Amino acid sequence: MDNSGQNNNERIFITGGEKLYGKVNISGAKNAALPLMALSLIINEDFKLSNVPDLADTRLMLKLLNDLGIKSIWKNGHVNFNGIAQIDEASYELVRQMRASILILGPLLASQGSAKVPLPGGCAIGSRPIDLHVMVMEALGANIKFDSGFIIGSVPSEGLRGGKINFPKISVGATESAIMTAVLAKGQTIISNAAQEPEIVDIVTCLNKAGANIVGEGSNTIIINGVEELKKLQHEVLADRIEAGSFAIAASITMGDIEIKNIIPKYLESFLKALENTGSKVEIYKNSINICAYKRPLPYNIFTEEHPGFPTDLQAQYMTLMSIADGECEIRENIFENRFMHVPELIRMGARISVKNQTATVTGVNNLKASKVMASDLRASMCLILGGLAALGTSEVDGIYHLDRGYENLEGKLSDLGANIRRSR
Ligand code: UD1
Repeated sequence: MDNSGQNNNERIFITGGEKLYGKVNISGAKNAALPLMALSLIINEDFKLSNVPDLADTRLMLKLLNDLGIKSIWKNGHVNFNGIAQIDEASYELVRQMRASILILGPLLASQGSAKVPLPGGCAIGSRPIDLHVMVMEALGANIKFDSGFIIGSVPSEGLRGGKINFPKISVGATESAIMTAVLAKGQTIISNAAQEPEIVDIVTCLNKAGANIVGEGSNTIIINGVEELKKLQHEVLADRIEAGSFAIAASITMGDIEIKNIIPKYLESFLKALENTGSKVEIYKNSINICAYKRPLPYNIFTEEHPGFPTDLQAQYMTLMSIADGECEIRENIFENRFMHVPELIRMGARISVKNQTATVTGVNNLKASKVMASDLRASMCLILGGLAALGTSEVDGIYHLDRGYENLEGKLSDLGANIRRSR
């Protein structure tokens, strides 16, 4: 992420070799909180979110919304939103720092009838185009043009109207854009080849509580019957399945035993199956899981896929686990074309990995070595922290501002489980 100026000098030091034990509470999901917060542009009165994770990205989204004129109060994970946007132009300084800023485009068009949004920045994990978001806006009747790095949108006088959206490729963000833009459009919208991620189900649950008429969330066809207005409501942000998966790997890689609480286990099904195949013991309860491991992991091939497949956001962390596996495995990345930037850093820690096209071949080593490494993106930063937990000696992880985008109180949570970890400012 181009987050220049944010905590650039901070580093994390980890002395590895401690087995992690205990319980950890999982925070609200960043990837649900960001689109949910953007709904404040179309839910104009008394919109309350709870379980909002305190992260660089959620703070940035709030700034972006405040900058547009939305009023908010944030206290202990609760955010109350009120009011309507006063302007239709989003701040370049803020948008360039976070790709998810594109999520405000549709709600701004729906509420203001016009929008001027800079082309977004974000993690450097591929080219990450926005053509599908633009396709959505046009299918719903908006006019879109590009000028000097801005997306400029306008809505005809008769307003947005429902339409058929058949995605040529599955996109989480574009599916969210379609839902958020169509909810107040006149008539029916049918989204085919929709993303099925739990975060999409969470947004639809929230919107339906506000009076929307949406069915099919969690399947590949979502039908939205436009409504005139959305009413005040309170909604709790879904738990972060990626944070939960990261702690599960922390248990496995340190041969520890962790109870991971406040989650919906079924949303982690394909990941947990893979983890079980590496030899970890996985116990699943109603709102928690328990992960423990007694020996070195076994190698097990995975490929990333849209939900319900193995999530791309856990690929880097899983690779760290496989780097100490008892044998060789293949990890194929199918979602993003440039999501192996953690590989050279893991190699610095002694991992044996070779990459060909979209496939990494990982040959497990007995132990990782403590090293000085640099995080290149959000999930890569967690993969290096996991490497540090497993390596003997003290590792230094730089580029920590990536971590702060998506993991709430990570050092605190890991310390409570027995990790030897500290941040230096
Ligand atoms: C979201 C998540 C991110 C996760 C990703 C895939 C948020 C805030 N971020 O990102 O953590 O890694 O889903 O699970 O929820 N694409 C296009 N054109 C577009 C949009 C996307 O070609 O207009 C492509 C992307 O380049 C990528 C694929 O579609 O290859 C999937 O991306 P998408 O699902 O859109 O990811 P995001 O919503 O950006």
